[in-house]
Amino acid sequence: MQLIQEMEQRLAGWLEAIAGSATFAALEKIKVETIGKSGILTTTFKELSNLSIDDRKLFGEKLNKIKNTIGAAISNQVKLIENLTITEKLKTETLDVTLPVVNDSFGSLHLITQSVRRIRDHYHSRGFMVLDGPEIESDFFNFDALNIPKHHPARQSHDTFYIDGFDETLLRTHTSCVQIRTMMKMGLPIRMISIGKTYRNDPLDATHSPMFHQIEGLVVDKGGITIGHLKSELRKFVAAFFEVQDVAIRLRPSYFPFTEPGMEVDCRYTKENGRLKITKDGDSWLELGGAGMVHPNVFRASGIDGPAQGFAFGFGLERLIMLRHGITDIRTIFDTDVRNIRHYA
Ligand code: DAH
Repeated sequence: MQLIQEMEQRLAGWLEAIAGSATFAALEKIKVETIGKSGILTTTFKELSNLSIDDRKLFGEKLNKIKNTIGAAISNQVKLIENLTITEKLKTETLDVTLPVVNDSFGSLHLITQSVRRIRDHYHSRGFMVLDGPEIESDFFNFDALNIPKHHPARQSHDTFYIDGFDETLLRTHTSCVQIRTMMKMGLPIRMISIGKTYRNDPLDATHSPMFHQIEGLVVDKGGITIGHLKSELRKFVAAFFEVQDVAIRLRPSYFPFTEPGMEVDCRYTKENGRLKITKDGDSWLELGGAGMVHPNVFRASGIDGPAQGFAFGFGLERLIMLRHGITDIRTIFDTDVRNIRHYA
């Protein structure tokens, strides 16, 4: 069969072209032309059906051999290019950790740590306790006690990681659980914040991460705490975090099962040279987090039976950091690239 002979003759040329390819694109092109769906080998295979059984076997074997040779050569070359790319990267991006320190730079705090400390300082100065809660939580603290019973639809919006083999045990989906733990332990009055890791089963992309941080606030007493106090506290926090004199805060009605009423917290901003700027006179509103007056059921679940009143709020830390530093991809915060770490030092 003439076609097969022709293939055998062209094989050397293809192999040479493969070995000479420096990019994945060049390899892909050869692959498409030869063993791809409409490649010359694939079409020749189809013509074998016109031959006698013996010829089909003979030529089929030959053709298969050519096809396998090409396939193997392409895989080899892919590995070679991959290795070259890594070697090239290593050459231009070497970091010799064994070299002596030549300047007085001894490392720096991570952006998350810096921000947590700044927020802690702000709230300490306002007379808040700064408390922690466990990241491995029970269903009760994460949901039930926050007025989110078993079949409540709000459970679906928290894509929860449950812990295998442990009944009703999960990675907390928010820091609101610390509200309950604190009220149970200390009773009223309380003025506290909590900052920590939270988890949701979201795929990692530019705006989502399965692990992120939240800031939770709780101010409760037997009475006399109003939305006015909440708004003033939020204004002071946002101004401090973004290091501006004053900000304009808007509370928009919203729904959280553990608040009544619940609200979304917005602040005014404007765009300056393409960068976002939080300012009291901004022309647009930016959503920052959630807040509300603590729901009576939450007080009840926390063992507080007498009169009680107060507010709570919750913010995503990474979102605040991204806004403050003009970061557009959340992964920048968590990668280990020293250039990023130095840049935000
Ligand atoms: N826990 C909420 C969330 O993760 C955020 C939140 C909203 C916290 C309102 C609060 C609140 O304390 O009052 O989406």
